Amino acid sequence: MQRIIIEKTTSANEYAKKLAETENSDIVVIAKEQTAGRGRKGRCFYSPKGGIYMSFLLHPEINPEETLTVTVKAAVSTARAIENILGIRVDIKWVNDLYKDGKKVCGILTEGRYNSDKKAFDYVILGIGVNLFYPENGFPEDLKEIAGSLLSEEKDGVFNKLTEEIIKEFLLLYNSHTDYLSEYKSRSNILGKEIEYLENGRVYTAKAVDIDEKAELVVIKNGKKLCLNSGEVKINMKKLK
Ligand code: BTN
Repeated sequence: MQRIIIEKTTSANEYAKKLAETENSDIVVIAKEQTAGRGRKGRCFYSPKGGIYMSFLLHPEINPEETLTVTVKAAVSTARAIENILGIRVDIKWVNDLYKDGKKVCGILTEGRYNSDKKAFDYVILGIGVNLFYPENGFPEDLKEIAGSLLSEEKDGVFNKLTEEIIKEFLLLYNSHTDYLSEYKSRSNILGKEIEYLENGRVYTAKAVDIDEKAELVVIKNGKKLCLNSGEVKINMKKLK
């Protein structure tokens, strides 16, 4: 897969989206800093130097419901890569956040353009942001309690090693039909726990009991089984501690 490595950009996902207009092959964009990093639900993703901000431009033959599986494969492969290179075990908070010692160290944002005439995606962009080294100026006040980094200080060679390992592990899973859900579940930090989720502006309490083959979260609420997808759920981190 072709790699494009850049020092700084607004957002690697945005960069990959522009590439998608002219490129039909799969490419990965790797940035060392983002000035307008994006998170899910329109949030910002703090992206100073010291992190890995990578976006895969992909052309999978999937339908819209299957994009969640691309995200889940990315979460499992990034967790594996971190363990292989750094020897650090990270948990996965459904659906796509990686945690080390209770702090978020990686976020994943999957976006795509679906062509309803062709009934296929023109492209899918998978963005992975890893807080590798502790940022020079620390985390902003509003992130201090929730964000962390994998390593406390910069180490030569680690950026490239981890980036390449994430690419390797992701491509292995992306191109295969092997089981990844059992590892995803074994790394989950919410299964078996009480969670809170947001639906139509109201907060509900439920117990997370499983993650199904579509990567939806299965919960029990008032004795009834429900399947939640990322669009409607907010997990209350206080309940995880
Ligand atoms: C989240 O935690 O809500 C998702 C964060 C995704 C961040 C990555 S970094 C590379 C790519 N470019 C972006 O602007 N966002 C994603």
